[in-house]
Amino acid sequence: MIGTEIEKARALLLQDEVVAIPTETVYGLAGNALSEKAVSKIFEAKNRPHFDPLIVHVSGISEVSKYVEEVPQMAYDLMGRFWPGALTILLPKKSCIPDLTTSGLKEVGIRIPNHPITLELLRSLPFPLAAPSANPFGYISPTSAQHVADQLGEKIPYVLNGGNCSVGIESTVLRVQHNEIEILRLGGISVEALQHFTSNIHIQQHSSSSPAAPGMLTSHYAPRKPVYVGNIRELMHDFVSQKIGVLSFKEDYKIEAQRILSKNGSFTEAAANLFAFLRELDQLDIDVILAEFLPNENLGRAINDKLKRASAK
Ligand code: TXA
Ligand code: MG
Repeated sequence: MIGTEIEKARALLLQDEVVAIPTETVYGLAGNALSEKAVSKIFEAKNRPHFDPLIVHVSGISEVSKYVEEVPQMAYDLMGRFWPGALTILLPKKSCIPDLTTSGLKEVGIRIPNHPITLELLRSLPFPLAAPSANPFGYISPTSAQHVADQLGEKIPYVLNGGNCSVGIESTVLRVQHNEIEILRLGGISVEALQHFTSNIHIQQHSSSSPAAPGMLTSHYAPRKPVYVGNIRELMHDFVSQKIGVLSFKEDYKIEAQRILSKNGSFTEAAANLFAFLRELDQLDIDVILAEFLPNENLGRAINDKLKRASAK
């Protein structure tokens, strides 16, 4: 059921139920981060493997020290600059965060989401919210309440509607070590924005098998239709005998099943449209989705990363 009642969401969460919540990045499937019962329900509803840890959402910077052992100065600087916002910081967890929430890892990922409804909800609760993206494991993340209801509607009691997500791609996940930032997942805060804090930024390479990088699985965000990324004109030629759909950055390829991420070439607009357009194309009567990379800078880098994973076989 979709609705806008914060009070209803609050009541369910207080009873260890799960509720889908809006954030500026993507919709999350939320439950009490301190309750093993609630966290188990999240894994179950998503059909998510237990080795993939959850992000914990808090309402203010002052909350962080309740859940983590120590916070390096640079982490505080990043929080001050980017929170509330699309940045998740990994920090050594305190024991009040169940191992189930972090899949047994010693660090917990924390962020303050930038959405007025969810901030109000968080402030009204006596616990933080664990929330992965509210999609079945392996599918595209939801950027509207309807996307959530379409796929998880039967499995969860409530979807709190906060409109379309303004950023549209997930948070950047990083850890801070000494003067270095290690990025585990590219996302809504760009590498360029982080470079104001240190030039020492390392982007972790993904792997489809490494348990050291849980959730960074290569084949992620995948639509059900096969996706090919490259030079769209050449791909159109290669797939001439099939029904094709096109996902372009800004160019109009003059085909019927086409979505243009941003006609005027805005990375921000492209990110906000990406997942909704992939879903739409996935539902059309086509055989394959042909896409192209964006310039590899700013949010283009994160979008390219999602496209690579969507196309991973
Ligand atoms: O924007 C977002 O981050 C959204 C909204 C709902 O906040 N959440 C989200 O969660 O994308 P999820 O679970 O779909 O992706 C979180 C990623 C996963 O790849 C997970 O492996 C990684 O962050 N992660 C979370 N906690 C971690 C930890 N303690 N150590 C390493 N990676 C972690
Ligand atoms: Mg996810």
